[in-house]
Amino acid sequence: MWMFNIPIIFIGILYSFTTYSAELSYEDAVLVKIIKAYELEPLTPVDRHATKAKETLGRALFFDPIMSGPRNTACATCHIRSQASVDGLPMAVGIGSSGVSDQRTVNKEAFIIPRNVLPFFNRGAEEFNAFFWDGRVQLALDGTFESPLGDLLPTGFDNLLAVAATFPQVEPDEMLGRSHRRGGNKKTTYHAELVSDQVDPDNFQLRTLDVYKNLMKRIVGTGKTTNSTQIEYLKLFDTAYPEANIYNITHIGNALSAYISAAFELKRSPWDRYIDGDKSAISHEQKQGAIVFFGKGRCSVCHSGVQFSDFKYHGLAIPQLGVGKHGGYLDYGRAKATGLASERFSFRTPPLRNVTKTGPWGHNGSFTSIDHVIEHHFNPIPFLFRSQQNNPREAEIAGRLIGHRSSILAEMYPITKQDVSFLSQFLKSLESDTVMSDLEAIPKNVPSGMNQFILK
Ligand code: HEC
Ligand code: HEC
Repeated sequence: MWMFNIPIIFIGILYSFTTYSAELSYEDAVLVKIIKAYELEPLTPVDRHATKAKETLGRALFFDPIMSGPRNTACATCHIRSQASVDGLPMAVGIGSSGVSDQRTVNKEAFIIPRNVLPFFNRGAEEFNAFFWDGRVQLALDGTFESPLGDLLPTGFDNLLAVAATFPQVEPDEMLGRSHRRGGNKKTTYHAELVSDQVDPDNFQLRTLDVYKNLMKRIVGTGKTTNSTQIEYLKLFDTAYPEANIYNITHIGNALSAYISAAFELKRSPWDRYIDGDKSAISHEQKQGAIVFFGKGRCSVCHSGVQFSDFKYHGLAIPQLGVGKHGGYLDYGRAKATGLASERFSFRTPPLRNVTKTGPWGHNGSFTSIDHVIEHHFNPIPFLFRSQQNNPREAEIAGRLIGHRSSILAEMYPITKQDVSFLSQFLKSLESDTVMSDLEAIPKNVPSGMNQFILK
């Protein structure tokens, strides 16, 4: 009897092997295991509750320079829709300049915001529990909103993105403008347009609340006096908030949040379709890149979950190249939000969807190639060394940066140039378009009539 069984078993094995190899390549077989082990899920639509009227108000505010002190900068000036919601510059150029992108660097008087602009993709998704490179707007463990305003944060924000959307307006170099002291005498202080004379411009919290009040006055009027722009805005506010009778900064934040969430929500990428079972959705090289990403590259330790970020803070020892948020040469990153010295030079893990479209990269935009930023994770020495040439200040800082480099990175295996190239191919499989069309996302005009700020 056994003589019959052997060929049957053999044929059985052969059969299962041929069907296995015909359907699954080596890479696909490994990725099946990875997808299972990491419980990877494709992107699902964001659960949004905002009304169209709120989005329409948010859209008007987003493209209207009325939001900035000197009325010359809109959200859309730095978050440009056709440029993957960033400006393409290493660091943003704020108040004092004009034009977009490269044109903004021409005016030497303009203020530089020494950080790379962050994109808006999927910012309405619940995974985003921290905003900005340093997470200075963050969800506390008990679900309350943490922000630079502390206990003075107004109540009534719909979500964390709404809170984050009310901070660009109060940053002096970004949108507000600067107050100037003359001869150290407070009485002769010249104030940025939205800061009242009696407010101390150095007191961030009081100044910010004052700016919010003045901004509301500017946009919806005082009830007694209204101009045509304010009448236009009141209509939009009344439709967006039929229940409210007094408007404050939370109504602006909530509307901007509604617009940003809707306008920049992403469709599924090829990688999502692959997870969902379409084995031909990504290329052979992208599959090899995915294996490095979840395997020996250990990228997914930090770039985890459906948005590819753990929303935690890590140090990569990226040189500041002489420009920084703190004291000119440094950027303390997360430590400035928490006050903890141990968190110096740490930054929020960047989400990676559409990352291939948002260069230059890094918190200060110092990488012009994706391959270089990946390589820097493994070995920061070459870039640190180059940055020190003829620059003693950088040499001084390098040791501190390395001292705060994430210990997770110390455990990475060496990778080859080939691996890096596969990784950047894989990152391309995370590209996708927004759900909302440009036609719907870009208004024809804004209430102030300053339509030249409507950038495509
Ligand atoms: C002058 C350029 C500039 C303008 C104008 C600007 N932003 Fe930004 N935006 C930036 C930069 C730079 C960052 C990153 C700053 C940081 O993390 O410290 C950023 C980050 C953000 C983030 C955080 C995104 C994330 O992933 O954490 C939000 C939200 C945001 N901006 C909303 C707005 C809104 C709303 C407006 C208009 C009211 C606006 N921005 C205007 C440059 C700008
Ligand atoms: C220790 C956590 C950690 C690990 C592991 C890690 N990253 Fe990062 N990654 C970060 C942080 C934090 C930044 C931003 C650092 C900064 O700008 O100061 C970053 C930046 C990046 C950027 C630039 C993003 C942007 O928008 O500027 C890319 C691309 C990237 N990482 C890809 C990878 C890849 C690929 C791997 C695996 C080889 C990897 N990372 C492993 C934490 C990590």
